[in-house]
Amino acid sequence: MTTFRIACIPGDGIGTEVTPAACEVLEAVGARHDLRFQFEEFDWSCERYTREGAMMPEDGLDRLAEHDAILLGAVGYPGVPDHVSLWGLLIPVRRAFDQYVNLRPVRVFDGVPGPLRDAAGTDLVIVRENTEGEYSTVGGRMFTGTPQEFAVQEAVFTRRGISRVVDYALDLAEERGRTLTSATKSNGLIHSMPFWDQIVEERCAERPSVTWDSEHVDALAAKLVLDPRRYDVIVASNLFGDILSDLAAGVAGSIGIAPSGNIDPERRHPSMFEPVHGSAPDIAGQGIADPLGAVWAAALMLDHLGHDDAATEVTDAMSRLLLDGPRTPDLGGTATTTEVTRALVDLL
Ligand code: NAI
Ligand code: MG
Repeated sequence: MTTFRIACIPGDGIGTEVTPAACEVLEAVGARHDLRFQFEEFDWSCERYTREGAMMPEDGLDRLAEHDAILLGAVGYPGVPDHVSLWGLLIPVRRAFDQYVNLRPVRVFDGVPGPLRDAAGTDLVIVRENTEGEYSTVGGRMFTGTPQEFAVQEAVFTRRGISRVVDYALDLAEERGRTLTSATKSNGLIHSMPFWDQIVEERCAERPSVTWDSEHVDALAAKLVLDPRRYDVIVASNLFGDILSDLAAGVAGSIGIAPSGNIDPERRHPSMFEPVHGSAPDIAGQGIADPLGAVWAAALMLDHLGHDDAATEVTDAMSRLLLDGPRTPDLGGTATTTEVTRALVDLL
């Protein structure tokens, strides 16, 4: 019996509805693989922020560090600015634990109605740089409230940061046996993106087994809609990867299914797994949130913890469920979160 210590941060809104579903599925699949999960729950959220003035306690990162992995629901609450929730919890965790890969698989499952005429069979992974790039604290504002007012926001690209995320994407492309596409914009961003391109080229030159290509992110966005099946692994900077992965999740039919892993590939720190979606205040409290994004995120966690067989069982059960099982309203059904979770656990 292997025991994993998992920190659970359900967060706000539907985060608190889908995280228990993910835990339930983990327990069900764990029972078949001699895995035990010891969940410790933390109430860190925007709700806590309005109560206590901080998203998490001062020793929050130290407490998370004692765990094997982190499961997060979503944070965000009407009345609390989104940059507070992001910079008060998610970004500090990603940076303190050097989770430099943000991994976002996208699949079009049989039976899921997508917005596109023909995207069936789409199966790709976006590898987003997760600790530097365009999401930086370098910059500032001056002359506030005057006609000369301005803001400067610097992007930070380092040789180390680009190399390691590209190497991760190359490993993944090699494992999946297909191709790598790098998202660039070297025609517009004339310092950072030529540097990105240069390092991508250097790293790829050392990996002749992987066929690779570089595309401007705007054209890539259009092609992701027109022909998503042509892509396998896409590597992108923090901002480009953020936008492309939500676009790709939309192509797959619902943001409610999409998962994301914030990964420290060197395993020095716990990695954090979460659904791509937010706290969805518009449907929170109704019990109809799709739990599959959180469940798939839990499967990514199993894979990361070295149990890819258990992870595959979860995604296989999801595929079967999506074919003809109950579904939540985001996928055109009428089932509740609990009913979908129950059906999935039964399949396992
Ligand atoms: P959202 O993802 O919460 O919702 C977008 C739309 O998708 C809504 O119509 C919602 O009902 C629907 N939706 C999302 N997840 C669903 C699910 N599991 N099942 C069924 N329908 C689902 O994004 P939005 O509205 O932009 O943001 C709401 C709040 O969430 C904001 O405060 C935002 O900052 C926060 N947020 C937090 C994230 C995180 O914690 N990682 C990520 C994205 C947004
Ligand atoms: Mg996003």
